[in-house]
Amino acid sequence: MSRYNIAVLVGSLRKESFNRRLATALARLAPAEFTFKQLEIGDLPLYNQDDDAHQAAPVKRLKAEIQAANGLLFVTPEYNRSIPGVLKNAIDHASRPYGQSAFAGKSAGVIGVSVGAIGTAIAQQHLRGVLAYLDVATLGQPEAFIQAKEGLFDEAGEIGPGSRDFLQKWMDRYVAWIRHHAT
Ligand code: FNR
Repeated sequence: MSRYNIAVLVGSLRKESFNRRLATALARLAPAEFTFKQLEIGDLPLYNQDDDAHQAAPVKRLKAEIQAANGLLFVTPEYNRSIPGVLKNAIDHASRPYGQSAFAGKSAGVIGVSVGAIGTAIAQQHLRGVLAYLDVATLGQPEAFIQAKEGLFDEAGEIGPGSRDFLQKWMDRYVAWIRHHAT
């Protein structure tokens, strides 16, 4: 039975997103008591502070899913050396109205894959700053900056042999982090 329900935020809406594939493959590396759900963020309106008193249904849904989760997992590409707007939009929504953030006290992992050689390092750094402000405790080590290369995934969508050990170790540390801090 699942004891830890993890809300996964993927920073790409692209159908063939490497990050979505990474999120799916990572979930398979976790023990059975962990369940991962990729949250929908593509149907959120653009954040507008005027709407704080009457948040749209998709915003309420997102906040409820985050609040109900025992932990969070952010899997994001790097866009122009930062986090994609769709992810920031989702975070801004779930952090508001002021004093009613869905994030307070949550724990999270941050990981991502990009085509560039630094594999989302700067995006992850920016995201960590945002999450620190929102009182989300992020796993610090190991860092995982993944470059999208041939063989990252095998034909079944699992992590390919070249990265499997590294990402299994990352997942083991993530699992320990969530067990320790879970809400
Ligand atoms: C990118 N890409 C990119 N890659 C990178 O390593 N550093 C960067 O700063 C950027 N900037 C950037 C901006 C925009 C607007 C786009 C569309 C793309 C390339 C990016 O890594 C590539 O598109 C990935 O495939 C995106 O991740 P998903 O959609 O496959 O998960």
